[in-house]
Amino acid sequence: MARLQLLQLLLLLLLQVGAGASPGDPKAPPLFNVSLDEAPELRWLPVLRHYDLDFLRSVLMRILRENIPKWVHPVIRKGVGELERFLPPLLIQETRGMCDFMNLSLADCLLVNLAYESSAFCTSIVAQDSRGHIYHGRNLDYPYGDFLRKLTLDVQFIKNGKIAFTGTTFIGYVGLWTGQSPHKFTISGDERDKGWWWENVIAALFQRHSPVSWLIRTTLSESENFEEAVYKLAKTPLIADVYYIVGGTSPLEGSVITRNRGGPADIWPLDPLKGAWFRVETNYDHWKPTPKKDDRRTPASKALNATGQANLSMEALFQVLSVVPVYNNLTVYTTVMSAANPEKYMTRIRNLG
Ligand SMILES: *[C@@H]1O[C@H](CO)[C@@H](O)[C@H](O)[C@H]1NC(C)=O
Ligand SMILES: *[C@@H]1O[C@H](CO)[C@@H](O)[C@H](O)[C@H]1NC(C)=O
Ligand SMILES: *[C@@H]1O[C@H](CO)[C@@H](O)[C@H](O)[C@H]1NC(C)=O
Ligand SMILES: *[C@@H]1O[C@H](CO)[C@@H](O)[C@H](O)[C@H]1NC(C)=O
Ligand SMILES: *[C@@H]1O[C@H](CO)[C@@H](O)[C@H](O)[C@H]1NC(C)=O
Repeated sequence: MARLQLLQLLLLLLLQVGAGASPGDPKAPPLFNVSLDEAPELRWLPVLRHYDLDFLRSVLMRILRENIPKWVHPVIRKGVGELERFLPPLLIQETRGMCDFMNLSLADCLLVNLAYESSAFCTSIVAQDSRGHIYHGRNLDYPYGDFLRKLTLDVQFIKNGKIAFTGTTFIGYVGLWTGQSPHKFTISGDERDKGWWWENVIAALFQRHSPVSWLIRTTLSESENFEEAVYKLAKTPLIADVYYIVGGTSPLEGSVITRNRGGPADIWPLDPLKGAWFRVETNYDHWKPTPKKDDRRTPASKALNATGQANLSMEALFQVLSVVPVYNNLTVYTTVMSAANPEKYMTRIRNLG
């Protein structure tokens, strides 16, 4: 065990040298281009070449071991042939390409991609300043952050030489929990934990329902504007419940979508004329009180009130997302974005110690 830990530590150091954060700002994750004009199986490989594959394998296997009930493993391994026919082909192709490169089985890679569908605690905020500009920020909180911080990256998905959309993810994971379609809209996802079961997830997979983070990616890729994005995020059948937070480019374009697997449970738009110039979503339905032991909603709202609508900015939003316990020990990264100013998309790795 001790030797394994030492090995992991060494690999970690190697990874830091290899992948390194950009100089000058040690907390920014690495930024990579992924070309959508390349074949799906090949497009992630230039990114993977920056990582230590032994380290990646060990981390992915650990996530798999610690996040997925044991009985699920053989089910997926046995059903992987079937699953391939039901999951979106692009998701399979990209995953297979990375998986082959890392010398992992497709079943294990798909399991890892599903593992993140659960147990994330997050805070997302969409807000409108006094001049009508829309800002969107999120904290992604997740156990095992010690490893995930090393796997976090910003990706620019390139099509015809231009940035089609941008996202923040973990290497090996093809869905997105955070992303931006430039000059169109931004999306983040927060887990909605209704005590869901792997049985249901697997059943939903076989009904061709979309993984929740994959829907963020396809929406970024396909939707032409804020309204289309909200519609797609609200209506597309999913394998699990989730909250989608969406920001646009024009006044009033901000909304929290509370999702059931089958469709929307609630849509909660900004209403600045009535004083509701921000919406805060953590991991609880907004129309219900938050549990006392995990109230991140009130501190976030207080901090936004203290900032004031007139003083809202990317920096101010980042500060709000840095207020304890909105920011906490599980926070892996913070992203702030504004679709109207896509070049300002900013992710910072948190809790680097
Ligand atoms: C890939 O995995 C197989 C089976 O575990 C192993 O025999 C082989 O040596 C591995 N190849 C590389 C390049 O790591
Ligand atoms: C990514 O692609 C864009 C658009 O082609 C280009 O401007 C940029 O320099 C590329 N960035 C990296 C990190 O390769
Ligand atoms: C923030 O301000 C609004 C409007 O004044 C108020 O209704 C709300 O209770 C405040 N929220 C918190 C958490 O203080
Ligand atoms: C904006 O911030 C300044 C101090 O930086 C403060 O004096 C002012 O009250 C704030 N505006 C609002 C509307 O809260
Ligand atoms: C992290 O945990 C430690 C120990 O429990 C606590 O003292 C500290 O305040 C926490 N930090 C944050 C940002 O919540």
